[in-house]
Amino acid sequence: MGEFHVDGLGVVRQCERVRAGAFDLYRGELDGVAVAIKVKGLGFPDDNAYIAQHSVVFSRLYSAIGYAGRFAPRAPGEELLVHEAERIRASAGTWNHDVLAAGPVRAREGEPGVLGLVMPWHPGPTLAELPRSEQRQLLPRMMISLWKALAAAAHGDLHGSNIIIAPERDRFVLIDPSVFLVEHKRHASGDSKTRCSFTTHPRYYPLLPPYYLPRTRLRDAPYLASQFEAFRWALSGCQLVAPGHTTGGATRGFAEQPVGRDEPGPADLLAVGILYYEALTGEHPFYDAEFTEPGWFGGVCLEGFRGSDTGFDAALVRIARPVVPPVARASDVHPDESALAMALLELRVHDLDTLVARAYPAAVAAQR
Ligand SMILES: Nc1ncnc2c1ncn2[C@@H]1O[C@H](COP(=O)(O)OP(=O)(O)O)[C@@H](O)[C@H]1O
Ligand SMILES: [Mg+2]
Repeated sequence: MGEFHVDGLGVVRQCERVRAGAFDLYRGELDGVAVAIKVKGLGFPDDNAYIAQHSVVFSRLYSAIGYAGRFAPRAPGEELLVHEAERIRASAGTWNHDVLAAGPVRAREGEPGVLGLVMPWHPGPTLAELPRSEQRQLLPRMMISLWKALAAAAHGDLHGSNIIIAPERDRFVLIDPSVFLVEHKRHASGDSKTRCSFTTHPRYYPLLPPYYLPRTRLRDAPYLASQFEAFRWALSGCQLVAPGHTTGGATRGFAEQPVGRDEPGPADLLAVGILYYEALTGEHPFYDAEFTEPGWFGGVCLEGFRGSDTGFDAALVRIARPVVPPVARASDVHPDESALAMALLELRVHDLDTLVARAYPAAVAAQR
């Protein structure tokens, strides 16, 4: 039991470390209210960081070179925490989450301390800690709120351990969003290069990387296959360079983090579908003996023209192979549950009305 002094907040008492790893998590009390403190831990990073890269050569019309993803060393823990705080704050309450302070936390007054995030403590299990049978009942009932939360702010690292379910099961909290760090360099020649480092969980982002946040609406690329094509297109820069403009827009899809779209990004929506599919079947819809790495990993767009990119073959083959519907995998799955999972995984849910029409029967079926 210890205490942490936090500038601007006061003293967090009775701090107890409840988790150790890449980040350590403490539970403490601030004026009688439970808070969580997340600080950089000693544990070796246990999740992945990647870089995506985009070069724009200003002298030619459609000339951009995009890398979809490579392994990268993780950015310093402090930097990740600062960005995590920004992203949580940008969600403006729609995730039911908040940051009370992001700054030095000190064991004793006057010490330099370490960088920490002080957040409300959210009681309750994570979705991942619940038995599949309960996840299966909860997820269809959470769909509308999930849609709204992800539309308000892209998350990018949605998985069962980042969703905390209230003890009464009447609300949930999204924590721990993916971090995007963008570095934009312009050379004297006029060429420029954008490097985007990001963290994510490849299991839930197997085809579209979390930073892919198209400006086109879901209904304009109405299937997973069309979204994947749009992603490759965006990577090449072509989509964003309007006729008559030689430069400019190509890197913006990477550098900007749109907040306040009125629909979720396709990558987050796919993550929701995967979570639900796993709850129904216990298996992954996409990864198998033939498809083992995220489809964006190692993808390179060479010349800015669709058709000349490389490294996407495994993803394209996987997308062309149908997903086994949950009803065909588990005999206790109801067709309405299966239909909801498949609509999400094929990115055929383009608006809230469609989602309600799919989720309601699935929720009813789960109550049988
Ligand atoms: N504010 C919080 N309230 C309660 N539990 C939390 C809170 N933040 C994190 N946790 C718990 O700690 C775990 C790890 O925290 P998280 O922020 O996801 O760290 P990491 O970046 O290491 O994944 C979560 O899965 C959850 O169980
Ligand atoms: Mg986490």
